[in-house]
Amino acid sequence: MSSSVIVGTQWGDEGKGKIIDIMAKEADLVVRSSGGNNAGHTVVHGNEVYKLHLLPSGILYPETICLIGSGVVVDPSVLLEEITEMNKRGVTCDNLRIDARADIIMPWHRELDKLEEEYKAKQTSVNVGTTGRGIGPAYTDKARRIAIRMYDLCHPELLKTLIKNTGEFENLMIEKLYGGKAFDLDAVYEEYKAYGEKLKKYMADGSVIAFEAYKEGKKVLFEGAQATLLDIDFGTYPFVTSSHPIAGGACIGTGIGPKMIDEVIGVGKSYTTRVGNGPFPTELNDALGELIRNRGGEFGTTTGRPRRTGWFDAVIMRHAVRVNGLTALAINKFDTLSGIGKLKVCTAYKKSDGTILNDFPVTLEELSDCTPVYEEFDGYEGDISDCRKFEELPEKCREYISRLEELCGCPIKIIGVGAGCDSVIFR
Ligand code: GDP
Ligand code: IMO
Ligand code: MG
Repeated sequence: MSSSVIVGTQWGDEGKGKIIDIMAKEADLVVRSSGGNNAGHTVVHGNEVYKLHLLPSGILYPETICLIGSGVVVDPSVLLEEITEMNKRGVTCDNLRIDARADIIMPWHRELDKLEEEYKAKQTSVNVGTTGRGIGPAYTDKARRIAIRMYDLCHPELLKTLIKNTGEFENLMIEKLYGGKAFDLDAVYEEYKAYGEKLKKYMADGSVIAFEAYKEGKKVLFEGAQATLLDIDFGTYPFVTSSHPIAGGACIGTGIGPKMIDEVIGVGKSYTTRVGNGPFPTELNDALGELIRNRGGEFGTTTGRPRRTGWFDAVIMRHAVRVNGLTALAINKFDTLSGIGKLKVCTAYKKSDGTILNDFPVTLEELSDCTPVYEEFDGYEGDISDCRKFEELPEKCREYISRLEELCGCPIKIIGVGAGCDSVIFR
């Protein structure tokens, strides 16, 4: 019996999908508990590449139940497209379950996401740089207690009333606040009623599924989406998402207690990336940053945007170790750094008055006064993608990994050397 939470430690896209896929082979239940189709998780099996946005990354294993938990915001059109695409590729998705409490992304959420971003860009010249999937507005409506949930989507009479009530309110905001175009609520109803009919068979009580699995001693994986620095409280607010990607979010977004979690694995990269706006202390705005982006294929899985790149930041990683209670790290993409020359790692931040900070600052104001303190390493060379034992890695690579471990205060138990599901070293 064991349950593991897998969380992103940086700004997302650390390779969580790959780690989940590797662990899902042995799992009975995989749960997505936060975020929505702002996530893009890549799973590579040989020549087959799967880009999953809402389906949990265990979906390729028919015996593994895959649950979309109550904390997820579900865009039914995207989910149905994803299911159809998987069906075409021979994956039935019969193992999918969706919690009846999960909130539904409505068309006005996508529209308001766009309008709000445009407004922020015009007013303050700094927008968040969201994925434009309606995530923020959907979570806003959940907190406002006017969200339409999975249960409602699958009950046409209820859906009709809720679309009328909330739709009128959303139309008011779109028209009066932003000067946008109102939605035809009858058309929205017809569209969403059809989605409900197709998705009804997946509806379940996710909390019961997770609890029963745990009681029966099954292996449960909680698949984090987004990452620690995108958490609405513990990330670089306001340049964050609108949910709780940190480990605690797995409990809230599934409906289970904290004592049901046995281990928390933080997934990171051997360097750092970020998509969207907001601070990034170790960012490389130069040819080297470009080289890492191209070698690492650092282009968004969801939006295709180029990812910003920079050095590994141990201050960020220590923050992730603390707020998630990490028991181990899985660090991917050591192959990407091979042959690029000397490497740097940020060990601490230095303020303009000379003070050294070992912990990630609480406010962006304080962060803007910080510059990274770097430690330099000899780089390593050669193709490491076939290495399957720690001892097979070049000595300089092993030294780099050991020092990262020391600086983060957490063992690196999984080392990524390629995108494929077998391209890892377990320690
Ligand atoms: P996620 O959102 O955390 O699941 O990560 P993404 O799928 O958005 O981005 C990670 C990218 O890195 C994907 O293209 C993966 O196939 C790829 N990847 C994962 N691990 C490794 C690795 O160790 N080496 C290389 N070269 N690519 C990797
Ligand atoms: P995965 O699960 C990387 C970023 C967006 C933006 C901010 C808010 O693939 O790691 P949102 O649409 O959530 O309101 O956008 O968060 N963002 C991600 N960045 N990976 C993700 O997911 C992300 N999900 C959201 O770029 O900066
Ligand atoms: Mg991603």
